[in-house]
Amino acid sequence: MKSLVVFYSLEEHTKSIANIVAKELNGDLLELKPEKEIPKNGFKKFLWGGKSAVFKDRPKLQNEIPDLDSYDTIIIGTPIWAGTYTPAINTFISDNKIKGKKLGFFACHGGGGAKKCFEKLRGILSENTILGTIDFADAEEDEEKIKKVNNWISNFIIK
Ligand SMILES: Cc1cc2nc3c(=O)[nH]c(=O)nc-3n(C[C@H](O)[C@H](O)[C@H](O)COP(=O)(O)O)c2cc1C
Repeated sequence: MKSLVVFYSLEEHTKSIANIVAKELNGDLLELKPEKEIPKNGFKKFLWGGKSAVFKDRPKLQNEIPDLDSYDTIIIGTPIWAGTYTPAINTFISDNKIKGKKLGFFACHGGGGAKKCFEKLRGILSENTILGTIDFADAEEDEEKIKKVNNWISNFIIK
C-alpha cells in the first residue's frame, strides 16, 4: 500500500519538508490549494490567516482529492497559524473520512504552537494510529531539517 503526503503551504517552508518526506517514503504528494488564497504580503497575511484559523474556516479547495482507500499511510503537514493547523487542512480532515489509517503529522512554525496543534489533530483523527509527529522552526538550518525528517521516517519502518 502507498503513502500520501498531504500538505498546505503559503510560503514554501511546509512544502520543502513535504517534498523530503514524500521522497523518503516514495509516496504521493497532495498540495492543498484553497480556491481563494489569503494575501501573501504584509500584515494582512497574519490578520486574515490568523482569523481564518481561529474561526476554524473550511475554505473550498481547488483540489480533486484522490481515493484515500488506496493509501494506508497519510502524512499531514501544516504551517502553524495562530497556534493551530491551517484552514485548508481543516477542510481536508473535515470533508474526508479518515479512519483506520497510519498517520503522521508535521508542522512548520516561527517558534511554537506545534504541540497544541498535534494534540488537536490527534483528538479529531482518533480513529487512526498515529505514527509520530515532528515540527520545524523556520530558523533551523535546511541540513538539520533534512536530518530530522530522515530520522523521523526511519522510526516508522513503513517504507
Ligand atoms: C497567518 C499566520 C499565522 C501564524 N501564526 C503562527 C503561530 O501562531 N506560531 C508560530 O510559531 N508561527 C506562526 N506563523 C509562522 C508560520 O507558521 C511559519 O512561518 C511557517 O513555517 C510557514 O509555513 P509555510 O512557509 O509553509 O507557509 C504564522 C504565519 C502566518 C502566515
